[in-house]
Amino acid sequence: KNNESTVIEVNVLGDERGLLTVIEENLTIPFEIKRIFYIHGTRKDVRRGFHGHYKTRQALIAVAGSCKVYLDNLERKQEVILDSPQKVLLLEPNDWHEMYDFSPDCVLLVLASHYYDPEDYIRDYELFTEVYSSC
Ligand code: TYD
Repeated sequence: KNNESTVIEVNVLGDERGLLTVIEENLTIPFEIKRIFYIHGTRKDVRRGFHGHYKTRQALIAVAGSCKVYLDNLERKQEVILDSPQKVLLLEPNDWHEMYDFSPDCVLLVLASHYYDPEDYIRDYELFTEVYSSC
């Protein structure tokens, strides 16, 4: 457990009209969705994120284009490539994450388990290791 990040492959429904992909709270992803945001128009040389959380769980989907996500939960450090609307990357609160290598057309959709609260962010890596090293 905790040695690999969780990437779910969701089914793409399609017919001659095109494709359709469904995500349902508590079914496709293991939490209730309180908030949705998307990151887009990101320059190639930008690296963002650099935080963990106390409570918030997230699901990341590159609904268009591609990007990379660096993950660190102190037990494993890993790079995940999101390059398909079928791939859903689940982030636990103790996943320090950084996103980079955005393609110009990338739209990174994020589903979150909690409303936005700056107090729920751990932006200092030193503090992050202190909070989670005993777990
Ligand atoms: P920020 O946390 O810096 O983005 P990232 O983690 O990708 O580096 O967020 C950018 C700005 O948007 C910052 O001022 C906080 C604000 N914001 C909200 O107001 N609500 C939200 O749900 C999110 C994710 C960010």
